Parts: sequence; C-alpha cells; structure tokens
Amino acid sequence: MTYVVTEACIRCKYMDCVEVCPVDCFYEGENMLVIHPDECIDCGVCEPECPADAIRPDTEPNLEKWLELNASYAKVWPNITIKGEPPPDAKEWDGKPEKYANFFSPNPGGGS
Ligand code: SF4
Ligand code: F3S
Repeated sequence: MTYVVTEACIRCKYMDCVEVCPVDCFYEGENMLVIHPDECIDCGVCEPECPADAIRPDTEPNLEKWLELNASYAKVWPNITIKGEPPPDAKEWDGKPEKYANFFSPNPGGGS
C-alpha cells in the first residue's frame, strides 16, 4: 500500500507533510504535492499533519485516480523536503469542491 495526496491539497499546499516524512518522498507541483508510491513506507505520520485532510491511505475506496496521479507526477516533479510558504489564499480553498477539474496544474513546483 501507500499513502496518496488527494484533491484537497490543490491550491492549499500547506506543506506540513514534508516536514514529517522520514523518507522524503513528497514531490512538488505548482498547486499541490504528490507522494511517490514506491518510496512511501506507509508510516502514516503525514496523514494527521495535513490541515486540509488531503492525505489518505490507498486502502480507502475510490482513490485509484489519485494513486495514478501521485505515481505519474512523482516521476516528473522535483522532490521537496523543506516546507515553503503556502499560497496566501490557501484557507479560502480548503474544502472547496471541483478543484481538480478547475485548478489542477501539471506544471512542476520549485522543489527543495
Ligand atoms: Fe512519508 Fe510516511 Fe507519509 Fe509515506 S506515510 S508519505 S513515508 S510520512
Ligand atoms: Fe498538501 Fe496537506 Fe501537504 S495541503 S502540501 S498534503 S500538508
């Protein structure tokens, strides 16, 4: 199994998760992060750290799309290990629906 970052991360991108991951398996896109499924050791430490509740274990139902997205973009986005500045309007996007359809960006973030 692995943990995956889901839609709730888009435009929130709080990055508290990267501070606690023991194996540094987060990768940064312009608007969200993803977890590399082959590097994640399933420790679960990041899940309660996310203020947007965006991180789920892939044992939960209906996460296939997100598992695929995490796996694909972890290969092309840069690794991130240091928490940066979240978007100034992160709180406004917390819990909003349809973020993937309207705001997902395939562009990479800066990494760290
Ligand atoms: Fe990192 Fe553990 Fe979260 Fe996997 S479950 S991404 S290893 S903190
Ligand atoms: Fe995203 Fe939550 Fe991390 S909003 S960047 S998964 S702390």
